[in-house]
Amino acid sequence: MIRQKTQVAIIGAGPSGLLLGQLLHKQGIDNVVLERVSAEYVLGRIRAGVVEQGFSDLMEEAGVADRMKAEGEIHHAVEIASYGEVHSIDLSGLTDGKVVTVYGQTEITHDLMNARDASGQKTVYETIDVQPQDIKTDNPFVTYSVDGQLYSLECDYIAGCDGFHGICRPSIPDGVLKEYEKIYPFGWLGLLSDTPPVNFELIYIKHERGFALCSKRSETRSRYYLEVPVDEKVENWSDDRFWEELKRRLPAESAERLVTGPALEKSIAPLRSFVAEPMQYGKMFLVGDAVHIVPPTGAKGLNLAASDVSTLYRILTKVYKENRIDLIPKYSEICLRRVWHGVRFSWWMTSMLHSFDESEIEGRIRSSELSFFLKEEAGRRVLAQQYVGLPYEDVE
Ligand code: APR
Ligand code: PHB
Repeated sequence: MIRQKTQVAIIGAGPSGLLLGQLLHKQGIDNVVLERVSAEYVLGRIRAGVVEQGFSDLMEEAGVADRMKAEGEIHHAVEIASYGEVHSIDLSGLTDGKVVTVYGQTEITHDLMNARDASGQKTVYETIDVQPQDIKTDNPFVTYSVDGQLYSLECDYIAGCDGFHGICRPSIPDGVLKEYEKIYPFGWLGLLSDTPPVNFELIYIKHERGFALCSKRSETRSRYYLEVPVDEKVENWSDDRFWEELKRRLPAESAERLVTGPALEKSIAPLRSFVAEPMQYGKMFLVGDAVHIVPPTGAKGLNLAASDVSTLYRILTKVYKENRIDLIPKYSEICLRRVWHGVRFSWWMTSMLHSFDESEIEGRIRSSELSFFLKEEAGRRVLAQQYVGLPYEDVE
């Protein structure tokens, strides 16, 4: 057993773990990131693409925002089409100038990995059997193996940034966590292609054949999604079938403009809402997908992870610089207030725009609710405020 030591042990090298590591490093707080897979595998994941202002500001604070500012696309509006009628939601006009940035999660991860490598901070990839230990004591540590050698990483705190299928949440004893979960009766079939996006703004589409979403990674790379049955198999979807179905669901004008091409990636993701409370136990904090999951309809997954990171980074900075250990117990309550707003908005967008097996009156009530939020300014303002992201809460 080789013994190592750091101040904060971060488990997971996704956006949560890497952003937290970079922010702590900028404050002179030593941290080590332990990741189960290779850096290449992490970068191969095709994930979200919409960044709230709070996340952009955090990337700036971490000193890793240059490429996002140069290559990310500022969006002042988003479009929602309901049964062929397109509504443009004026995000900036309805939120005193707030915007979202379209910039792929893969690029964010790239930027964070490059910064971490350049700073010489320790990241251990392809670890085996990472296991938080003695979480409830003053001397927690994390055991893991690499190349057959067993290590013990002693630390002051553990940040569980290891995603929904990670080890940290399950390391908390039974009976401590209260878990909330909702599984949706459909999935999203996503396609990535090197074709010009059909529209500058993102388009969320409610259609009798099912939901669709037109997004992008750049002006030459598009990202599209189709609602499919929860048990659908990606093998059933040739590129041609995908493009034909997307055209059927697009508003007429967009369907005419659609440029198709070979899929670079095609996959089906299930949709769920999930929250575990509390988000901390002893000296371990749960962050991002490790403790909450939202359906991607609200573009909140990555952005809720960022607000968790912001809260934890600010608390730990005060702990190390001002000995504010009184702030430690506040992490979970602060995060959960914003998390539940994100969970609700993501559930609401999903409920408004997808097809459900429901009575006719429920269908009409659902359509009437969406119509209010698309056509009345009061409703559009609420939608815009939630989409650009609610403010981050101070830690005191
Ligand atoms: N040991 C070490 N690393 C682990 C372990 C483990 N036992 N289990 C999982 N990991 C790693 C995963 O390989 C992954 O790289 O933890 C990382 C978790 O990253 P994400 O799942 O991306 O979660 P997070 O960083 O919170 O980012 C949330 O990613 O999944 C999307 O929609 C989500 O956009 C959101 C964002
Ligand atoms: C994406 O670009 O992958 C994306 C954009 C907005 C969403 C979900 C996914 O709501």
